[in-house]
Amino acid sequence: MATTTVEAVRGQFTALRAPVAFFDGPGGTQVPDSVVDAIAEYLHTSNANLGGAFATSRASDTVVDGARADAARFLGATPDEVIFGANMTTLNFALSRTAARGWEPGDEIVVTELDHDANVSPWLELAHDLDLVVRFCELDGDCRLVLGHLRSLLSSRTRVVAFPWASNGVGVVTPVADVVGLAHEAGALAWVDAVHYAPHGPIDVTLVDADVLLCSPYKFYGPHLGLAFGKRELLERWRPYKVRPAPDVPLGHRFETGTQPHELFAGFSAAVAYLDSVGWDFVRDHETELGARFLDGLPASWRLHGPATRDDRVPTFAITSERVSPAEAAAALAAGGFAVWHGNYYALEVMRHLGLADGAVRVGIVHTNTADEVDRLLAALAEIG
Ligand SMILES: Cc1ncc(COP(=O)(O)O)c(C=O)c1O
Repeated sequence: MATTTVEAVRGQFTALRAPVAFFDGPGGTQVPDSVVDAIAEYLHTSNANLGGAFATSRASDTVVDGARADAARFLGATPDEVIFGANMTTLNFALSRTAARGWEPGDEIVVTELDHDANVSPWLELAHDLDLVVRFCELDGDCRLVLGHLRSLLSSRTRVVAFPWASNGVGVVTPVADVVGLAHEAGALAWVDAVHYAPHGPIDVTLVDADVLLCSPYKFYGPHLGLAFGKRELLERWRPYKVRPAPDVPLGHRFETGTQPHELFAGFSAAVAYLDSVGWDFVRDHETELGARFLDGLPASWRLHGPATRDDRVPTFAITSERVSPAEAAAALAAGGFAVWHGNYYALEVMRHLGLADGAVRVGIVHTNTADEVDRLLAALAEIG
């Protein structure tokens, strides 16, 4: 592996030369130059629609096939099981509707209080349309899923258990395979939101036996796109919302609508190549080290919400201070050269669970951050809060 130091990694990002310490990775990471170049290269040389006899169309077919193969490798799936879309939310509204064709009034869906609303509202709206029931799995004091409660919500009416692999609110990582197992015991589909987990560790849909899994390449060094996996047997069974002349192969393409942003597919492949070159070992080790540094140095005036442990979490921290509101703190930090998020970041139920009406300040650490950035952020937090 050539790039195993944070300096070498950062050298690949023009965006990281800005005088800003980016702790807004959970809202979207910066992209390496290779991603920018791949997008430009596609538009310079290959811009066309698919399936034509001419050179740029053939080249576009190659780019799209390549992106599908890279996505399959990234997810541990087959290229047939890959579905691209505008973003996770759009894909989730579309796939939830597709899955629900034929469901009966009174059928049930279990979601969790840990979810981003993009894995809640699609089910609430569906419940509104089809007279379904949505149940919420509760959290414990550390914002971890209470599996006993989840178990008590399941019945033969449960069609789907929708849950996150990691929380974009408080950084909790869930026991994915266990939750999938519970869903399957009840005869329900396991529907995993991996958006927040994807930048932090490898995904293998086969290993965890997910039925549907969604993520967003713009959160893991790629362009603004959504990506989903659907198990082959489901994609073969589901009736897609598609126009008649659109091809039926590859299988996942039946669930994509219209012309896709091919240039972003080229950028997506470059992002996967970038992560391959960095390696998950470096990502894990560096993020764990920076997360511990942040937790150890957090000034006493700031309160951490969610688990204070370093285990079963990603380095995403929700913090508040009694001396300053999240919005004021984020503005002061922005003025000091730090990008952090504030508010509820669409993690509505988590914030309700924590009793945080104004939300919190979110510090999202990724592998492109440095120890120096963390130290400077801690000093700034001590000053403003
Ligand atoms: C955990 C989680 N799920 C879903 C989403 C929605 O993703 P998208 O912006 O791709 O629709 C986000 C976005 O922040 C997220 O953090």
